[in-house]
Amino acid sequence: MIDLHCHILPGVDDGPTSLAESLKLARFCVADGITVITATPHCHSSIHLLRADILPHVAALNQELQSAGIPLTVLPGSEIQVFDSTIYRREFEEDVFCHLGDRHTFTLMEFSWQEALFPADSVELIEWIRDRGMTPIVAHPERHVFFREQPALLQPLVDAGAWIQITVDSLLGNFGPEAKAFGEQFLRTHREAILATDSHNMKRCSGLSPGYAWVQKHLGSDRARDLAGRADQVRISLLTPPV
Ligand SMILES: [Fe+2]
Repeated sequence: MIDLHCHILPGVDDGPTSLAESLKLARFCVADGITVITATPHCHSSIHLLRADILPHVAALNQELQSAGIPLTVLPGSEIQVFDSTIYRREFEEDVFCHLGDRHTFTLMEFSWQEALFPADSVELIEWIRDRGMTPIVAHPERHVFFREQPALLQPLVDAGAWIQITVDSLLGNFGPEAKAFGEQFLRTHREAILATDSHNMKRCSGLSPGYAWVQKHLGSDRARDLAGRADQVRISLLTPPV
């Protein structure tokens, strides 16, 4: 399995504070059945990690995983917050962002937690990214109060071609009943979804398999298979050597 949203790099953002904790998280993920992780440290207004910052940390962690005999591949990535769509577009064009797998296929995008910073041109932004041949994956909208209160804001993003990442902990109720209900409702009504853990450390990590088990139990095997298939599509795309 691939986890495409995981703050596993040690000491770079609000993820693990030490290498030992990263390795512990890595072992937990492997035991859960995860074989590939895209490391997605924050790229927002206060922690603004770009590909030049991230790539050496990913290489160093893979070295440590190999030395420790942990069978896990960590690919580069980042959770890029759109706190200002003009700045986002400029940095995107400068190619300084670290998209998933350091490829130009999928990018993990987060909207601000403040409704006031939700860009008026968000739909155009999704279309703009799609026009560049990439699929934006919107991180955990079920956790954003303004999306829950105004689901009409989310639908046009999906219609414009965004995929939606639902966090396993939301489905398990660890972010409260509202996030759980919204996540479940989205999975019931939309195909364009993908599960990820958004793990930050051993205290904030439930694994991926409990998410698929939850979906299987509540929404059925077909839905769980569909979600796993979409994630696998990302995994294969990121691991296939570029032509
Ligand atoms: Fe995250």
